[in-house]
Amino acid sequence: MRRRIERPAPEALGVVERARRAAADEGRAPRVLFVCLGNICRSPAAQGIMEKIAAAKGLAAECDSAGFYGGHAGDLPDRRMRETAWQRGYRLEHRARRIRLGDLDDFDIVVGMDDSNIDSLHSLADTDVRDAKIVRMTDFAVAHPDADSVPDPYYGGAAGFQFVLDLLEDACTELVDELLKTDND
Ligand code: 4NP
Repeated sequence: MRRRIERPAPEALGVVERARRAAADEGRAPRVLFVCLGNICRSPAAQGIMEKIAAAKGLAAECDSAGFYGGHAGDLPDRRMRETAWQRGYRLEHRARRIRLGDLDDFDIVVGMDDSNIDSLHSLADTDVRDAKIVRMTDFAVAHPDADSVPDPYYGGAAGFQFVLDLLEDACTELVDELLKTDND
């Protein structure tokens, strides 16, 4: 069932606000980790899109991605995702890796793509501080208010890859804009 929720989601904005302040206090860029299952389709695409939009808008951000399933560790993103992303100007060169508990310490914002990723992240997070970094990618998808997950395109057709990129461009644009806000905004 789809939930129609406020966009951007207020809880997610709280996570971004804390991330922005933590990074500013420590004189560094905010660190964002994108998480899916295989780390070969959705999350490396989110990373590549976020990096490009952040650079275009003048935001310094450190981005990475990881997955819960380690079977593709070391692999480049799925060829279909690389080709679809390249049509939009994104070169995806991330090498897949499995998420580890330390990621919830090293990153300020940890972005899951679907219910399963979010549940797995909450299970991994064994402290409130770690848990409080978890957000859902579609919390930022302002142009797709009916989408509550970024669906896994792996077993589907070409349209699924395009839709994933549509959602990720929408959500990453909003996430960059939120990270660019200052205390005066
Ligand atoms: P992703 O897609 O989570 O968006 O990277 C998947 C890719 C591969 C598998 C699952 C999901 N897999 O099970 O091999």
